[in-house]
Amino acid sequence: MRSSSGTRARAIADVPDPGHDGDVISPISGGRVPRHVAIIMDGNGRWAKQRGLPRVAGHRAGTENIRRIIERFNDHGVRYLTLYAFSTENWSRPAPEVRALIRLLGRFIKRELDNFVRNNVQLRMLGHIETLPEWLQKQVNDAIERTRDNDGLVLNICFSYGGRDDIVMAVRRVIESGLGPDEVTEETFAGHLQTAGIPDPDLIIRTAGDNRISNFLLWQSAYSELYFTDAYWPDFGREDTDMALAEYGRRMRKFGGLLPEDVQALLQR
Ligand code: FPP
Repeated sequence: MRSSSGTRARAIADVPDPGHDGDVISPISGGRVPRHVAIIMDGNGRWAKQRGLPRVAGHRAGTENIRRIIERFNDHGVRYLTLYAFSTENWSRPAPEVRALIRLLGRFIKRELDNFVRNNVQLRMLGHIETLPEWLQKQVNDAIERTRDNDGLVLNICFSYGGRDDIVMAVRRVIESGLGPDEVTEETFAGHLQTAGIPDPDLIIRTAGDNRISNFLLWQSAYSELYFTDAYWPDFGREDTDMALAEYGRRMRKFGGLLPEDVQALLQR
């Protein structure tokens, strides 16, 4: 059978250990750690409402929370952190809230850039940077440029990002590239997504109680472990980070295959 990845289905004994390719051992917990964590940072509005504050105060608190979360994941040895800051659908929010979120992105970069440089963090943006005001595009591009050679944690900020949009844009790029139908495989296709070169997220965290993916990394999340917590994003702290990583460490990842011990048992029959 010809699969879309261009390879023939393999015999069961050839299936590599589906285990935890790329996982590292945390210097803190001594446990298995995902290489790539992606977060849907939800609940800023409810956090603010709970305190009788305007929604924007929640977004501000949520932005401030990002620093400690980067530090914690970095300490654990996570290599890629992807944050969903603004979706393609978020443009439908009231204009003052949209403007506030755009301004917060600018303030975040201004405030954190020196930290990124000091801590060897490489900043990348996913989504439509060209929809941002010019002054912010310049600020974003300068920050990307200044951190380009950093080889520590890679921080992807998704702004004006949508998973479906990412796929549609990739289809366009594939067509433009002139690839023939037989050359379009899962691998070549993934190479045209915005995440090209970045491993798929091992763990996706969503805060604030809703259990859905909301158009985030749709292609890339095919085999991600999903972790939902009731904590609102501004409250999601070091302990929550550790709990999410501990839960990840307990998950059995099979990628549609079998666990190595089950393969072994089959072979010994
Ligand atoms: C959801 O809260 C949050 C967002 C719209 C995106 C997250 C944004 C931030 C953390 C701040 C901006 C980020 C950067 C990098 C500058 P919500 O408003 O949907 O909360 P609710 O569901 O409780 O109303």
